[in-house]
Amino acid sequence: MNAVIVGAYWGDEGKGKIVDLLASQADWVVRFNGGDNAGHTIVANGKQVILHILPAGVIQGKNVAIGPDMFFNPKTFFADYDAVVKAGFRIIGKILIDERAHVIMPYHIALDAGGEASGKLGTTKRGIGPVAKDKASRTEDITVHDLVSGDFKEKIKAVVAAKVNELLQHKVVERAADLNRYAEEIYSEYSRYAAKLRSYVGSCTYTFNEELKNGKSLLLEGAQATLLDVVHGTRPYVTSSNCTAGGAAANLGIDLRKFKIIAIVKAYPTRVGEGHFPTELGNYEETKKERKGEMLTATEKKKAIDGDLKLLGKWIRQDGGEFGATTGRPRRTGFPDFVALRYSGMINSVDEWVITKIDVLSGKPFRAAVAYEKDGRKTTRFPFKLEGWKPVYGKKEYFWRQMSESEETAAVKKGYDALPEGMKEYIRDLVTAIGIPVSMVSIGPQREKTVIKDVLKRTREYLK
Ligand code: IMP
Repeated sequence: MNAVIVGAYWGDEGKGKIVDLLASQADWVVRFNGGDNAGHTIVANGKQVILHILPAGVIQGKNVAIGPDMFFNPKTFFADYDAVVKAGFRIIGKILIDERAHVIMPYHIALDAGGEASGKLGTTKRGIGPVAKDKASRTEDITVHDLVSGDFKEKIKAVVAAKVNELLQHKVVERAADLNRYAEEIYSEYSRYAAKLRSYVGSCTYTFNEELKNGKSLLLEGAQATLLDVVHGTRPYVTSSNCTAGGAAANLGIDLRKFKIIAIVKAYPTRVGEGHFPTELGNYEETKKERKGEMLTATEKKKAIDGDLKLLGKWIRQDGGEFGATTGRPRRTGFPDFVALRYSGMINSVDEWVITKIDVLSGKPFRAAVAYEKDGRKTTRFPFKLEGWKPVYGKKEYFWRQMSESEETAAVKKGYDALPEGMKEYIRDLVTAIGIPVSMVSIGPQREKTVIKDVLKRTREYLK
């Protein structure tokens, strides 16, 4: 099976686990967008590994690749590599890094951290915006091809010289006279990476078109998610890459008709960084101060159940471990949003949803947005500018109590019918609101906590 995996909301949908699960059937696992702003958490053999740039399939010894439209930070690549080895996994598959990928340089990171976007958009400070800007400039960019070629030193000197004003303005270098030394320092660090990377560099486009012709299967691992897409997302509060399924075809130069499109929907949306979030529970300024492990007391839980939405948002965040894998920032949490999901389903041409982290909602009453409203106007479309749009919630309140360990095991074994009634009601409403069936329901972080049996069959029945 060839499949593209994308996130349905604003990222952090738990794609790492699902990619890891599906990877066993794939010959290659390929990242096609973004850079080390992503953080994919995988729990396997009782160990947790967080990967930022290496595709999750590496854990299973699969061939992995970094696509041509990616932003590549060599330092993170080696850190990921070491993390995998340190966790006891063996890297036995091939690693392919596309020569067209753009290299994140130290000044991209410095410009991102010190730039306007880091505060205004709440970026991950990994240099993504600045490297994307250089890519678009076509004159100040450095590709993986440049990195491993003989004239890398001249290239880096020329680029640093061309950027003199920007680097001085943002105090990346203090004086113009320091430029040469700065370029030399970068060269010294990056030429060491280049020496170690050279054997991995090649063309994804040729490799994958040939592999597909030879009947090999590809799993394309999206990073970030649909609503962070640079074109279709909630601009300007987006990342700088194409995060949609169509982006995978454009970025890799492959035929998407050969792929199944799977979107990962976390049972509740979350968002990190700035930007509008119609179904947000609580407010971001307070969320920012929260720390991981600040669990709710029994009284607070009761209050949340009785309608304190701020506490409900905190409860979901703490139970769901909703703290950034890359930055550690607390994630904003919200009620499910069928307006956003309908949009996501449409622009990705989704074949199947995979619902993740549904267990986190156990014991918590919640509703789902079915439309938005502004100045007495109602819409079921996802507006380009979300300012002022308020969610209109469906009448139904969803609730089911926490499943015991043995109930979870039974659900995995017996399949969809064994899930709690309230959970199935929510899934049914999600499926019918959006018109796309579900193929898997994840009820815990471990591989084995995934319900697959009869899920597609039953949710297709909802659509008849
Ligand atoms: P950047 O990609 O670092 O430029 O950040 C732009 C926006 O995308 C910020 O709001 C980030 O928090 C968000 N973002 C980037 N990568 C991820 C991710 O992997 N998960 C969730 N949000 C992300």
